[in-house]
Amino acid sequence: MNSILFEPLVLKNRTVPNRFLAQAMEGNDGDKGAPSERTIRRYTELAKGGWGITVVEAVSVWETSLARINGMILKRKNLDSFKRLIGEFKKYNSEGLIFIQLTHSGERSGKFSEIVTLTPDRAGPRYLSSDEIERIKDAFVEAALLAREAGADGIDFKMCHGYFCGEMLRPANTRDDKWGGSFENRTRFFREAVAEIKSRLTQPDFIMGSRISLYEGIRGGCGTAGRDEIIEDLSGMIEVIRSMDDLGMDFVNVSAGIPALTGAITRPTQSSKYLVYHQLRYAKTVKDTIQKENRSLKVIGSAYSTFKEEAPLIMEEMLGKSYVDLCGFGRQIFADPLTPVKLKQGEKINWCLLCSGCSKLMAAQMNDGCIIYNPYYRELNRNLKV
Ligand SMILES: Cc1cc2nc3c(=O)[nH]c(=O)nc-3n(C[C@H](O)[C@H](O)[C@H](O)COP(=O)(O)O)c2cc1C
Repeated sequence: MNSILFEPLVLKNRTVPNRFLAQAMEGNDGDKGAPSERTIRRYTELAKGGWGITVVEAVSVWETSLARINGMILKRKNLDSFKRLIGEFKKYNSEGLIFIQLTHSGERSGKFSEIVTLTPDRAGPRYLSSDEIERIKDAFVEAALLAREAGADGIDFKMCHGYFCGEMLRPANTRDDKWGGSFENRTRFFREAVAEIKSRLTQPDFIMGSRISLYEGIRGGCGTAGRDEIIEDLSGMIEVIRSMDDLGMDFVNVSAGIPALTGAITRPTQSSKYLVYHQLRYAKTVKDTIQKENRSLKVIGSAYSTFKEEAPLIMEEMLGKSYVDLCGFGRQIFADPLTPVKLKQGEKINWCLLCSGCSKLMAAQMNDGCIIYNPYYRELNRNLKV
């Protein structure tokens, strides 16, 4: 198959071989914070699929901020396992790029970890002090440098889906210290962290970007104009994207919603599939701004699994009209890790059925994967029902 889907893309000073991006998807199968044999096998399978970019799922920069009980943590003690994961990946896909998504789960941490918040007056989670936030920022910087040491080609500084860095950006972040209130304060965390990572990186080709939820769908959330607003107003988030570009970041991965609260926006299911058109509009809105202002951030669109077998056609349209630079697949990478290579060779693809099975396994804190096409996860799901 010869099409724009398989055209290379220049990203910073690297070449992405095609326009398929494997989105971060938590498999919840780490071993005490390090990638396990199962984790490494999953990424090796993805490597064989020939995705232009593969993003390693949310990896915590902080020991006690895990959203998944078997989630991974990027600290020096786990570095060798991350090196192995990246090394194995590159054996099977030397052309594609591999990034690590760095996160702190904040309010979305599990009960087995520590649930914390940076928003004042939130009942329940422990309120984070200004100093603690400073230390979390240092942890992001250290983890980014470790990602580079592990051999990753870049990082995704996770600011989406209601986790710590997304909570920071919200108009509802009314902290009265330097981390809240004004737009400048709410963007300080990522601006300072990214600037420091850049100043400490010795390799100029390391790629940095961020995944954001352009609209979270909650009152005072990202994509609203004030702490009491629910109506979509993207101007604040467009400003965030301008800051990313000004900082010299390389990509923005446009997503939406908070899976735990407004999950149908993030990952539409069979019954909510038309919500995916918001995702297309969000990506186009971002790309329009970037083009109009002659900026260089590359734009990744989300939720392409929702289109099932029509996804390649939608990709052709979105890429052909320059509405996005890369198209990101989440659930489809579980359904068929080999999707790009199979499409290129005209082979039959196992398309995601939007059954929500992987989301249910995730909610149950099980190892996660496709319950339709992969017997291991099918069995886990069967036991879940009993
Ligand atoms: C089981 C599961 C795990 C996920 N893990 C992550 C993650 O680690 N980081 C992230 O940014 N998004 C995560 N997501 C969201 C996906 O990356 C993606 O945005 C979402 O599934 C919509 O895209 P799709 O229609 O292609 O699946 C996850 C989604 C699911 C269902």
